[in-house]
Amino acid sequence: MVKPTKYINMNGSLVPWYEAKIHVLTHGLHYGSGIFEGTRIYYNAEENQTYIFRLDAHVDRLYRGIRVYRFDTDFNVSKEEMIEQSIELVRENDLREKGYIRHIVYRGAMYEVPERGKSGSFGLNPFNSPVDYAIVAFALGAYLGEDALMKGAHVTISSWRRIEHQSVPPSIKASGNYVNSMLAKMQAVLTGFDEAILLDYRGYVSEGSGENIFWVKDEQVFTTPLTASILPGITRDSVMQIVKDLGYPMKEDNITIAQLLTADEVFFTGTAGEVTPITRIDHVKIGNGVVGPVTKRIQQKFWEIVEGKDPKYEKWLTPVF
Ligand SMILES: Cc1ncc(COP(=O)(O)O)c(C=O)c1O
Repeated sequence: MVKPTKYINMNGSLVPWYEAKIHVLTHGLHYGSGIFEGTRIYYNAEENQTYIFRLDAHVDRLYRGIRVYRFDTDFNVSKEEMIEQSIELVRENDLREKGYIRHIVYRGAMYEVPERGKSGSFGLNPFNSPVDYAIVAFALGAYLGEDALMKGAHVTISSWRRIEHQSVPPSIKASGNYVNSMLAKMQAVLTGFDEAILLDYRGYVSEGSGENIFWVKDEQVFTTPLTASILPGITRDSVMQIVKDLGYPMKEDNITIAQLLTADEVFFTGTAGEVTPITRIDHVKIGNGVVGPVTKRIQQKFWEIVEGKDPKYEKWLTPVF
């Protein structure tokens, strides 16, 4: 459940939450031509400080998508301005709890907008539509539920395959990509699971509908490679660093379903999902079916870092107040 905050940033202006609306003839709505980001905010109660986690990395990924989908022809907001406006929005909404920022940049009106210098054309060609953007920030707890986060998620291997790079780039966080994730998520929810794992086009494990995947085997930690059609997760990158700093070998590798089922531990990483243990896959217990020691250590370190309790990782945090 999302509780409305005071303001949403639309094209650089703060507008009241309920007034942040778009027209039905918006290109992004019809064709999925949006690039978005999900970034976490964390609150440290002792310091009464809110931190944005890895804001620069999220904005960098957003702008990679903007380049690939050629929004840059009509978009001149700089990364620095996007960062500044994100901080301002969290501050103006006085968010002092665990939360989330959603950035979205999208092709707008498919009709004439003279004040934006656009003739507006109906149909797929996006170049006559302006590029609009919005930033929304709100409180958000555990994405897969508190139970899954603390005791482990029960997940299923989806019968839908993850999109692959020859059709649409899975490495870009484009709105249209998420119809694929949504099909997998619906199947998981309707069959009683917390989340889905998708295989890539070759049949190797790719990732969750909105999370990357890690596993532990013989005290070594693994994750699937970029070539397995994954989104290059920022939590994935952070956890790979944390794993190495904790002294475990960290490798990228392909994995089959059978290998995953027989791993010692499995967990998801994601901005929304954070570090979520997976204790059952299609009703098969992973290890002995409880949260494993390596996952627990990584999860605890992750929470220390995001709340600003480990100075070594301060570079990943942007203080808001
Ligand atoms: C498909 C997919 N994979 C992985 C992730 C995890 O990426 P990140 O850690 O950057 O949130 C996400 C969420 O953004 C996602 O949507």
